[in-house]
Amino acid sequence: TTLRHVKKSVTAMDVKIWQQPALGKREEAAAQENPEHLKLPVSPSREFVSRALVSSRKQYEKMYEQSMNDPARFWGSFANDFHWERKWDTTKPICRYNFDLQKGPVFVEWFKGGYTNICYNALDKHVLEGRGNSTALLWEGNDVGSQKRITYSDMLKQTCQLANYLRQRGVKKGDRVCIYMPMVPELPIAMLACARIGAIHSVVFAGYSAESLAGRILDCQSEVILSCSGVQRGNKLLPLKKIVDDALQLCIHQGNFRPGTCLILDNNRALPRNKVSWVPGRDLWWQDEVKSCNTEASVEWMEAEDPLFLLYTSGSTGKPKGVLHTVGGYMVYAAVTFKFVFDYHPGDIFWCTADCGWITGHTYVAYGPLLNGATVVIFEGVPTYPDPSRWWQIIEKYGVTTFYTAPTGIRSLEALGDQYVTKHSRSSLRLLGTVGEAINVKAWLWYHRVVGEGRCPIVDTWWQTETGATMISPLPGAWPLKPGSATLPFFGVQPVILDQQGKEQDGPCEGYLCIKKPWPGIARSLYGDHKRFEETYFRTWLGMYVTGDGCRRDPDGYITLTGRIDDVVNVSGHRISIGEVESALDSHPQCAEASAVAVDHDVKGQGLYAFVVLVDGVTPSDALKKEIMDCVRREIGSFAVPEVIHWAPGLPKTRSGKIMRRILRKIAANQFDELGDTSSLADPAVVEQLVDSKRSMR
Ligand code: WTA
Repeated sequence: TTLRHVKKSVTAMDVKIWQQPALGKREEAAAQENPEHLKLPVSPSREFVSRALVSSRKQYEKMYEQSMNDPARFWGSFANDFHWERKWDTTKPICRYNFDLQKGPVFVEWFKGGYTNICYNALDKHVLEGRGNSTALLWEGNDVGSQKRITYSDMLKQTCQLANYLRQRGVKKGDRVCIYMPMVPELPIAMLACARIGAIHSVVFAGYSAESLAGRILDCQSEVILSCSGVQRGNKLLPLKKIVDDALQLCIHQGNFRPGTCLILDNNRALPRNKVSWVPGRDLWWQDEVKSCNTEASVEWMEAEDPLFLLYTSGSTGKPKGVLHTVGGYMVYAAVTFKFVFDYHPGDIFWCTADCGWITGHTYVAYGPLLNGATVVIFEGVPTYPDPSRWWQIIEKYGVTTFYTAPTGIRSLEALGDQYVTKHSRSSLRLLGTVGEAINVKAWLWYHRVVGEGRCPIVDTWWQTETGATMISPLPGAWPLKPGSATLPFFGVQPVILDQQGKEQDGPCEGYLCIKKPWPGIARSLYGDHKRFEETYFRTWLGMYVTGDGCRRDPDGYITLTGRIDDVVNVSGHRISIGEVESALDSHPQCAEASAVAVDHDVKGQGLYAFVVLVDGVTPSDALKKEIMDCVRREIGSFAVPEVIHWAPGLPKTRSGKIMRRILRKIAANQFDELGDTSSLADPAVVEQLVDSKRSMR
């Protein structure tokens, strides 16, 4: 196999339709039928408001205005809550930037000249201020009964040991370290250890295939891999070390690159050591190596704009992008959004179900909560093991006060029945949150009524890997909620909604969501490819950050996200590039051509539907279908495998050879009378054949 770069180029603006209105008319009607649901919008209770950090829209507006008019004072005062080894240069503006490509390269700088360390602020600071005995992590393993409690001082010691070990292996400031691990305490510890010594971590979600892992290791040339023998998730064993071995083989063949160190956590709950293959010298057991290291480690003071981490994410075209975040701005923005969006009070038990392999896990499992000295629950397993009440059982067990998850999880558990939820007490819950995709009204109402017993506000947080942390979200005590709406921008965030011509619109409207000014958490670049960073986010409309999402604004100023406007789909909250999926499908030797579209999916939000044209003379079969699906599993990961493979006689193309995805989307959704004008197609007969074959599939 070769590292595949996506061949097809689809322009972002090719797809101009609003793919998936968050508030479907049908759902709205269904909600209205139930009289209980008529009381919309939903206001926070008086009790919630009485202790909320921001308790009115007026208070928010005042703070928001200050954040826009006097960013130095606003962000400076939050930044001052942290330790800075040297303060940023206060004689210069707190933020310098250029968003306008016509005026020169795009750049953003916050707190320039300041020196700090995010690990120091997330751990040492709390220990030094006497909070060492408070709980940092509550870890719940896959099996009921496996658990660990880690205090801030324990966590600091373990982080220092690993930091010292990495230094011993030659890792220094600016080096990239790839982390491919399950949700065990050592995962956030690994991130923090890197941050402590100034190494740039690149966490790869432990559901990605060897191909994907190899691509990510090669792109940033990480000499060191931190991983784990394997992990049991539900009933399934994931042999992580085996995947690492395969990935490293690929790295040698594809990039002539041979990482020198693989530090492997021995997870004998999943796999005994003797079942794990080993390359002596390169492979080392974490527990054996790290335990003898000193539990104190010096801190590498980092300039505010030094890189903190890379996180690869999918774009509409091309290979995955290594989104780069820097130390100072990310630290401040992650911490401040955590505090206000989750209305954090000391003593809260916070649980974000995201994996640290995604940005949500970076910002709201690791950095945001720890910077606030919070107690975080992390869970290794899956919500349905040993049965579908697991999440609610964990909430009861640890007294979780704030629960943050993805709509897809909510929908899948809703479908299984209320009894799994109500069997456990949720009386500790105060606040709920969602992230990653639009939440439909029905799921929102269920989450609110059944999970939160009608008591807990829901923060529907919109943001992206590139934005670092939450951008649009309710502040839960400050204004009424509307199901499906992310409501208003966070402090310092200036959203604008453009029409098709790129003109800014006022008042209620619908259009492309862009952001006008830099906030501290914005990504600074794509690793090794600043040009691509500029082209992806700053070319379509000059002078602003283009999010790739569509949205609408209602008369209250509330913003509702309406879905991606480029060829990125969101399956179960996982961001997947259509181009990458197509390229994986194409890699099968018997596939002549393939195209994939997003279709609505009850549980996953969106699913992938693939049209595959076979090489002449090849007969379709179930075995072939499986092989083709396996190509996607191998090249990307299981989560990207299409739901449906439709054997297509051909694809509808314009005369210039461009695939008409609009038509494919309609066919996939059985909307045969909405195919629109097909006269510009090179061969309109293809459409009839596709419709016929679709009808016979049903
Ligand atoms: C989508 C995840 C609607 C959106 C933090 C965005 C959402 C992409 C929401 C980023 C939301 C995220 N409502 N859509 N509350 N949150 N999205 O980079 O399309 O994995 O552009 O970051 O997810 O996904 P990413």
